[in-house]
Amino acid sequence: MPAMQITLTRPDDWHLHLRDGAALAAVAPYTAERFARAIIMPNLNPPVTTVADAEAYRQRIMQALPDHSDFNPLMTLYLTDRTRPAEITAAAEHPHVHAVKLYPAGATTHSDAGVTDINLAMPALEKMAELDIPLLVHGEVTRAEVDMFDREHVFIDEVLTPLLERLPRLRVVFEHITTAAAVEFVRDSDHRIGATITPQHLLYNRNALFSGGLRPHMFCLPVLKRERHRAALVEAATSGNPRFFLGTDSAPHPRHAKESACGCAGIFSAHCAIELYAEVFEHAGHLDRLEGFASHHGADFYGLPRNNDTLTLVRESWQPPATLPMGDETLVPLRADETVIWRIPREARVF
Ligand code: DOR
Ligand code: ZN
Repeated sequence: MPAMQITLTRPDDWHLHLRDGAALAAVAPYTAERFARAIIMPNLNPPVTTVADAEAYRQRIMQALPDHSDFNPLMTLYLTDRTRPAEITAAAEHPHVHAVKLYPAGATTHSDAGVTDINLAMPALEKMAELDIPLLVHGEVTRAEVDMFDREHVFIDEVLTPLLERLPRLRVVFEHITTAAAVEFVRDSDHRIGATITPQHLLYNRNALFSGGLRPHMFCLPVLKRERHRAALVEAATSGNPRFFLGTDSAPHPRHAKESACGCAGIFSAHCAIELYAEVFEHAGHLDRLEGFASHHGADFYGLPRNNDTLTLVRESWQPPATLPMGDETLVPLRADETVIWRIPREARVF
């Protein structure tokens, strides 16, 4: 009997880390084989803070893609305390810059140049509201005394709620949400707010960090939360509500940087991302809603056309390898040496 399959409008990834140089060349093909477009995070070192930086980075991405690829990288700027309103105006006029990312300083990988006080970024944020450039937020406060597992909730109360009251027209994507509080906030808000949800936050709870020992490859930020939060995320993603859409936060780090006394945050999922979302939707009994989440809601939120082509997924098990090459180094991908139950057709595969 032929394996069951589903065909979707080709999906997009609304939150992706591609890095630069040899790492970029190593990881970009996995996303390009699956997704038509991706919102590219600007947390390089140094960060992508100007339209000129974003355009130069986009050229490097295009050069790193396989010849046959029609992948379209959607660029973002990294908001700092000093981002000038004129840079926002330039972004609004540029065909390849689609959003601006807020990293609270110190929140995560390469966030040192991020915003230290939201009031300092207000001139740029006001211009974004005026010109309708979406703000993408890493929604965690960074104060050392706030519990790691509460940082998203506290961010909603201390930063996001006042920001939306002050700038009610600002379009916001609450990135990689991890808690029931964030689900409720996005679902019930009167504002123009959407949210991305990663595969790891839909599939795993915080026990995955400690199963049989410390698991550095399951560490990302915001950190995995307890089971009731995972369940709330699955409910939101599979509900059909257009405010929730796909964003992998796939974030490659070399193996040694994660298997370290102070391991980096980031989970690499680009090699099986849409396949893992299919697993989540199948287990929730809502495979019919995968297309909305993966292929429609994000494009609609960003005001971009939905894709015209399709991607077919086959219900066939396979195992991602233990490691993948990353320039001169290797990375350990999500589900390494474990089973993934959906797969993309042979002609689209990198391995
Ligand atoms: O786990 C994460 N990794 N969270 C982030 O916010 C950044 C990302 C990275 O760039 O590695
Ligand atoms: Zn990210």
